[in-house]
Amino acid sequence: MSNTLSNYSSIMNTYSRFPLAITKGSGSIVWSADGEEYLDFTSGIATCNLGHCPLPVKAALQEQLDSLWHISNLYQLPKQEELANILTSRSCFDQVFFCNSGAEANEAAIKLVKAYENKKTERSAKIITFHQSFHGRTLATVAATGQEKIKTGFEPLPEGFIHLRFNEWETLQAIKEIKPTAVMLELLQGEGGVIPAEPAWIKELAEICKQQDILFIVDEVQTGMGRTGSLFLYEQYGIEPDIMTLAKGLGSGFPIGAMLAKGKVASTFQPGMHGSTFGGNPLACSAAIATLTEISPDFLDASNQTSKFFLQELEKVSEKFPNIIQVRGIGFLIGLEVAGDALPYVKAALQEKLLILSAGKNVIRILPPINVSKKTIQLFLGQFIKVLHMCEEV
Ligand SMILES: Cc1ncc(COP(=O)(O)O)c(C=O)c1O
Repeated sequence: MSNTLSNYSSIMNTYSRFPLAITKGSGSIVWSADGEEYLDFTSGIATCNLGHCPLPVKAALQEQLDSLWHISNLYQLPKQEELANILTSRSCFDQVFFCNSGAEANEAAIKLVKAYENKKTERSAKIITFHQSFHGRTLATVAATGQEKIKTGFEPLPEGFIHLRFNEWETLQAIKEIKPTAVMLELLQGEGGVIPAEPAWIKELAEICKQQDILFIVDEVQTGMGRTGSLFLYEQYGIEPDIMTLAKGLGSGFPIGAMLAKGKVASTFQPGMHGSTFGGNPLACSAAIATLTEISPDFLDASNQTSKFFLQELEKVSEKFPNIIQVRGIGFLIGLEVAGDALPYVKAALQEKLLILSAGKNVIRILPPINVSKKTIQLFLGQFIKVLHMCEEV
């Protein structure tokens, strides 16, 4: 069919894209097709946690490219076993299911919970999720997501999800009455506006789940893999969830997702109940093993020190700009709530050769690589202050 639209592209129109073509990246720098240099504090939306093209991951991928790319899950995959062993030894979970994205990891968690409830009681599962949450774009994860704009137009959606208010104490009473199969949440809501869960609220929620045998699912697709200062954010809340989902930073930009579960629930899955052609293929697993090896406890200590410095500097900057209402976040998942719309700041930043994001309507989201240096942070701050001046009247 001939193209009659002025801005026609052969790509479906699912994203409002900025008019910038990026063709190369290294660390926190990316280059446009016309050779311009940009400072990237988006990390591919919390995915390139080690910066662009990190050398240890590149080396692991290059080695794997020479031996085996893909063979399917019908055979034993030593790289997959190795990765699963690393993930379970560095978390409270017993078994892993591999897939390719965050939505798929959550979809797998939802299927596992449904099968678990069905086996136990022959009833349909009820899953509590929260307002402003984001869990993905497949039909079940859209149903789980607590944002109307994500759901509109796709009804009827899969049933069984009940959305309650995040961080509210009345919610806990409601959960006791509903007695759901599972509760699923982001401990720090990313897309919804960089909103951390209250530690006391989470402790109480975890206690209720334990007492009432409710499965506790943490969606760590955005918060995991060192983004928030520990390998997984649940560690900082002093809880032990039953299920965790990962993707984004797991492969440093190479697509891979994972759903981890405690043995009592993981054992529900039997051959034929779930699967994925690409899930956990040797290339993806090599990237993830190299990524996890890099994110050692010492690496996390250093990253934490730098993120504290960054947050303090952002606090100082915010005092000079009344448009900034609050600086919040954990580790390198940082949000600046602004008066008005956040998008003009993102657009102004682009003019200053700075890549930043928005979250919700009025939050600037800043996601540098988690190994960024203080020097690069200073560089960012200098340019970001110019952006804030440009937007003073917004
Ligand atoms: C918390 C959370 N869960 C799930 C997803 C979906 O991940 P994916 O886009 O890889 O399907 C995202 C993506 O932003 C996310 O932030």
